[in-house]
Order: sequence, then structure tokens, then C-alpha cells
Amino acid sequence: MGIPLISDKSEIARIKTHIEGLDEVMQGGIPKGNVTLLSGVSGTMKSSLAFSILYYNCLEKRNGVYLSLEQSYISLLNHMVNLDIDLSKINLVITTDLSKLENRAKEATNSSKGTLFLIDLAALRKEVRDTKTGERGNWLNVIKNIVRKVKTQIELDLFALDSMSALYVLSDLENPRTDLFHLFEFFRDEGVTSFFISEMPLDRSRYGEFDVEDYLSDGIIFVDRTEKYRKVVRSVAIIKMRATDCDLDIYTLEFENGKFKAVYGGQPPLV
Ligand SMILES: Nc1ncnc2c1ncn2[C@@H]1O[C@H](COP(=O)(O)OP(=O)(O)OP(=O)(O)O)[C@@H](O)[C@H]1O
Ligand SMILES: [Mg+2]
Repeated sequence: MGIPLISDKSEIARIKTHIEGLDEVMQGGIPKGNVTLLSGVSGTMKSSLAFSILYYNCLEKRNGVYLSLEQSYISLLNHMVNLDIDLSKINLVITTDLSKLENRAKEATNSSKGTLFLIDLAALRKEVRDTKTGERGNWLNVIKNIVRKVKTQIELDLFALDSMSALYVLSDLENPRTDLFHLFEFFRDEGVTSFFISEMPLDRSRYGEFDVEDYLSDGIIFVDRTEKYRKVVRSVAIIKMRATDCDLDIYTLEFENGKFKAVYGGQPPLV
């Protein structure tokens, strides 16, 4: 298991971000099993981006887990529908009770569509309360157990955690470097391509809260917004992506008809 050792670069399996224009400048996508931070200040469409990466992979019959720690699934889904994401095209499984997760995953094996498991905080809160081993560290174990449970029944290709900051508030990590190292290693070992939404401080001084997330992750995709002549322009850049020859330019991030696009230069702002 885990990321295999290769002898030729063409052997690296890649997962598309489906951000048009971005996969093309990163050898086709993110290496399978990589841990990627999706960093940005608030309102930069981090959640939308993570959801759309999972959604478009589900359209290709892959399966994913989206774990929302701060936004209720209703709020998140309403937002996605407003973005013209057609949820009927995937097998969307909303889970609020983790004890039923394995069964739900088993049912999903009968679906002809890719499955997106959407789990929100309420389910996790209950699970942490039900585990007797003390509060600290539990959240990380619960996250790992979600992945393990799903994987007993069905192939799991992608995972997204929304967000790291919410996890920190809940779990109060005592030793972030070690705890996050083990969490990220877990996803690599499982071969699940994972996305961790990371809220940046407004001064953009670091990609994660503890200053260690960027070293521990395999990749960073940075989304931002810049004000130009009273118009706000969204942008996206790959800060790093291990095992990938990628273009580090800053692209304008556009959103149209349910799809993200990275445009070089982008539309000039209207003055
Ligand atoms: N149809 C649309 N087209 C483009 N942008 C949209 C559309 N609908 C909503 N938005 C924008 O999406 C943004 C919110 O996206 P999202 O929730 O993914 O961002 P976020 O970075 O996760 O935010 P937060 O930091 O609050 O979690 C809003 O600022 C809103 O203006
Ligand atoms: Mg969000």
C-alpha cells in the first residue's frame, strides 16, 4: 500500500483537479496519494474548489469523502447547487451517523455512479463523545476511522477536510508537528489523495496555522483575491507539488457553468 516506488515518471498515477488550465501545467494532475493544502483567506472559494475536485472525480466513477467541520451539509450543498453543480449526476451519500457509515458504503457499491460521502460535524461530535479514550487526539482517530470504515467496503480515492482551523479548534493539538505528520502519513499510506483546507491569516504570512503544514504536505494550492481598480480578482497558484514539474505562475481563477478555470492573465479588470 501507499505510494509505490517508480522507475519511470510516466508511472505516476495522477488525480485531476478539473480546474481547466491547471492540470495542464502540472503534468496532468496531483500525484495519487499526495497530501495537498488548499490555502487561502476567507471567501476565496476553498470549500467550493475542494468540493468541485471531488465532484468531478466522482463523475469519473471515483469515490470521495468530504468532511465538513464548520459548515453544515445543507449550507454547503445549497452553495454548490447555486454554483450549478448538478448533484444528481453523482451518488451523494449524506451521513450524520458514523455507526451507519460502513453500511452506507456497502450500499454505494451497487451504484453505477461515483459516490461522494458528505459527513458533517454533528456526526463527528457524537462519535467523539461515544469514544471513551479521552478527548485529545480523538478527532484525528475519528478521521482515520472514517477512512478505514469506508475502505472496508469500497475503493476510496479522494478525501477533503474542511477545514484545518476547525479541526484545531476542536482537537487542541498539543504537538501539531507530530500529530499532523502522522495524519498526513496515514493518508499517503492509504493511497487516498487528500485535500486539507487551510485558512490563512489576512496578512498571508503563512499557508497554515502552525507554520508546519506547508513542510509536511506534498502540495500547496493557494487561492487568493486581489483588489484591482475596485474589482476583486480571484487567483490560483501552485506553490509546490512534490513529484511534479509544475508551473508556479499565478493564474486568474474563474468560475463559469459549474467549472473552475485557471486563466493565464485572465480578464483585464474594467476600469
Ligand atoms: N455562482 C457563483 N459564481 C462565482 N462565485 C460565487 C458564486 N456563488 C457564490 N460565489 C462566491 O463563493 C464565495 C464563497 O465560496 P466558499 O464558501 O467556497 O469560500 P471559502 O473560501 O470556503 O469561504 P470560507 O472562508 O467562508 O469558508 C463567496 O464569496 C461567493 O461570492
Ligand atoms: Mg469554506
